[in-house]
Amino acid sequence: MKGIILAGGSGTRLRPLTGTLSKQLLPVYDKPMIYYPLSVLMLAGIREIQIISSKDHLDLFRSLLGEGDRLGLSISYAEQREPRGIAEAFLIGARHIGGDDAALILGDNVFHGPGFSSVLTGTVARLDGCELFGYPVKDAHRYGVGEIDSGGRLLSLEEKPRRPRSNLAVTGLYLYTNDVVEIARTISPSARGELEITDVNKVYLEQGRARLTELGRGFAWLDMGTHDSLLQAGQYVQLLEQRQGERIACIEEIAMRMGFISAEQCYRLGQELRSSSYGSYIIDVAMRGAAADSRAQ
Ligand code: G1P
Repeated sequence: MKGIILAGGSGTRLRPLTGTLSKQLLPVYDKPMIYYPLSVLMLAGIREIQIISSKDHLDLFRSLLGEGDRLGLSISYAEQREPRGIAEAFLIGARHIGGDDAALILGDNVFHGPGFSSVLTGTVARLDGCELFGYPVKDAHRYGVGEIDSGGRLLSLEEKPRRPRSNLAVTGLYLYTNDVVEIARTISPSARGELEITDVNKVYLEQGRARLTELGRGFAWLDMGTHDSLLQAGQYVQLLEQRQGERIACIEEIAMRMGFISAEQCYRLGQELRSSSYGSYIIDVAMRGAAADSRAQ
């Protein structure tokens, strides 16, 4: 399965923070925003990832993450000329996807909760069509809204409905079989001139091939479109990290735990950042990882 992170848009609602910087590079407590969606793809076992952004920002992502090889990944970059909708990612990313299944994640989404990694790998394993993730919210009218039966099959889907039929917002993580590229080519722009991801999902719904997994209580799904939600996400991460001593979305740690890099490689990445507490954390988890490796031998 190939991964795409959509990190476009002009971040107008976050101005002046986004005057010179891409929204998806803004700090969320101790790391740039894009680490959070990147860590989700990595936890799903995805190693070939394309980052789609505007021309002005691509070089910033490139200098942050490079070709991805240091994390055992292969990262490529592609330009979205204008923000023409989430589903355009499949047209831009068609060559990257090739003949594989595809996972798309929005670059400003944080997902965090117990057992998420196994939810992801389980969903990837049974993929047949489209797999969405729903999250109960108070203000469902601001989102795509899904209704499901007791088995998780999608019954209805509406984009920003005035009267939502459920409180389940469709989150910014989408998994598809390879036909998503063809489907994205067939949809027309909406009234706001965008290729809507909900229109792609509706094709799968009509085919009876759309499912939605509910991420329930105790789970955090945060998007960071405003100053308040950006700060709240940072505070959420700070609170959990300080209380538990474990970092959320530490991509070096995840690369090691997923077996993409060795404990020794992870240690070296930590050394480069050792003057920050983030770097010391990586050194610490790498040393524990190395000790576990030697016990296993
Ligand atoms: C988009 C999708 C919507 C989804 C949301 C998740 O909305 O169109 O279905 O619920 O992302 O963040 P937008 O952020 O483009 O308004």
